[in-house]
Amino acid sequence: MCGIIGYIGKREACPILIEGLGKLEYRGYDSAGVAVMNSGKTDVRKCMGKLRALEDAIRNDIPRGSLGIGHTRWATHGGPSDANSHPHTDCAGNITVVHNGIIENYMELKEALTAEGHTFVSETDTEVAAHLIEKFYDGNISEAVCRAAKMLQGSFALVVICNGEPDRIVAARRYSPLVVGLGKGENFLSSDVGSFLSYTRDAVYIDDDTAVTVTADSYSVTDFDGNPIRKEVHKIEWDASMAERGGYEHFMLKEIHEQPRALRETMRGRLSPDSGNVELPGLNLSDEYIKSVDRIRMIACGTAYHASMAAKYAIESLCKIHVDIDFASELRYREPLIDERTLAVVISQSGETLDTIVGLREAKENGAKVVSITNVVGSMAAREADGVLYTYAGPEIAVASTKAYTTQLMVLYMLALYIARIRGTVAPEDAKKYCEELWDLPEKAEIILNDYKAVREAANRYYCFNGFLYMARGINLASALEGALKIKEISYMHAEGYAAGEMKHGPIAMIDPTFATIAMCVKSKTYDKMLSNIREVKARAGEVIAIATNGDELIESYADKVIYIPETLEVFSPVLVAIPLQLMAYQVAKNRGPAIDQPRNLAKTVTVE
Ligand code: G6P
Repeated sequence: MCGIIGYIGKREACPILIEGLGKLEYRGYDSAGVAVMNSGKTDVRKCMGKLRALEDAIRNDIPRGSLGIGHTRWATHGGPSDANSHPHTDCAGNITVVHNGIIENYMELKEALTAEGHTFVSETDTEVAAHLIEKFYDGNISEAVCRAAKMLQGSFALVVICNGEPDRIVAARRYSPLVVGLGKGENFLSSDVGSFLSYTRDAVYIDDDTAVTVTADSYSVTDFDGNPIRKEVHKIEWDASMAERGGYEHFMLKEIHEQPRALRETMRGRLSPDSGNVELPGLNLSDEYIKSVDRIRMIACGTAYHASMAAKYAIESLCKIHVDIDFASELRYREPLIDERTLAVVISQSGETLDTIVGLREAKENGAKVVSITNVVGSMAAREADGVLYTYAGPEIAVASTKAYTTQLMVLYMLALYIARIRGTVAPEDAKKYCEELWDLPEKAEIILNDYKAVREAANRYYCFNGFLYMARGINLASALEGALKIKEISYMHAEGYAAGEMKHGPIAMIDPTFATIAMCVKSKTYDKMLSNIREVKARAGEVIAIATNGDELIESYADKVIYIPETLEVFSPVLVAIPLQLMAYQVAKNRGPAIDQPRNLAKTVTVE
């Protein structure tokens, strides 16, 4: 995820671009850059690091001109470096581009363009767009951008300027956000209205597969064939600080709502529901090696550890291979059995958690091959592993992890299906069924997010209770632990996740009318057992909230409150179960008052032992 911006008007562009990029830095901050045009010449300035580094670099030599574009980067293709920073240009330096998204067919396009004589200077997917536009440019930049956009697969919001047409900015979008801000004698383009709200509140949202040409006094929207499209102007009511959070009160809530998109990004280009195939280009392990592995060891901390718990169930069942899971902080001080036939899977949103990195090194020293699952391109976990599978969740700002968790689950499921195919443990027709089911998860996540009145009602009823017990059986034991962690992190309430069958060995003693039990009771092979566990809690005057599958009427006669989610296979249900649990934690914390995005005593990335 990156932030992009454009300005055209009468004022100096650079300070406006820098100010706007500051508001977009939440979208990524690996590097920043601006390009400012003056008398048909474009001055590109960019460097690795946060926006502050760019500001320092240009402080005594600010590029002048009243037309410009800018970018703040969250690296996806090509690690953070000066060369990979945006803006990118074509061979002649005539066309300059900033991009947010992932161009999936960039390798194929790069090869073709190279063969035609284009020279590339970065490892990014974006540079392909600049050269493709150059190829199609014959005096009309709007047309050239549309022709190029039609050839791009994946997601993009592109903002483009051209020395030959110094009175306009052209932008195009598919899946990545793009909005035009309409001022008086000046106009803006951005990923997010927050970056121009101090100048105008009039905004035009650009739709997928459309392009917009903006001058200082006009804008015109077309499809990629040049057919005009009429657009409504929206009056933005938010204040600037709310806008950075996309109108959400907290980053956590925004990130919860971003999950359908994040899950789609994570699957795109890897999973094909039509063929039932999974491709994992970054994995970097030969089929022979995968066949020879005799155990998988997962290493992680916090929420990522819960993802590994769910993965153990999934991989053992789909791949028939032994999986051990370890808290990274524990692995180091014992003598784990790791050797050349161990595949270590390291899971870390940040890719920088010290305990996890130490675990990664320990696994390597013992001869294991290591695959990292991380959200941060170029992080230590990515650099030190043999293979990397990125979760394309975009930057996660709230300390309590939400979209990183569900995208980690998604990557782990795809890894399980990939290994199962190579080891021949899942029949092709079943693989197809699994892929179809995964493919549908984002839509089902959307259904949950479109209406969660039941979660709010439950939170409003139970937030004053003495504590929560999350109970589950099977793969959703991971969900129970993650649900309890979420509520502890942000509401500071006592909460425990427990295996429902273990309740009778201790936790049931805690049950009284002030203690709420959240039971994971989705369709599963242990559904009846869960009903019995609910009965046991009810018999001790406990209150029960059930997370159940749409259409389950029976559960109503067992639980005090039911939160329904769409049906999916039990093995994939943790992705959907996570969402009401995240929302529940959020709503309880909101009712109780702590600082949701930055809870006390915690840090987003823990780089100490
Ligand atoms: C911290 C964060 C958690 C996270 C854990 C592991 O405790 O607050 O949200 O799950 O670190 O972080 P990682 O970046 O390695 O996934």
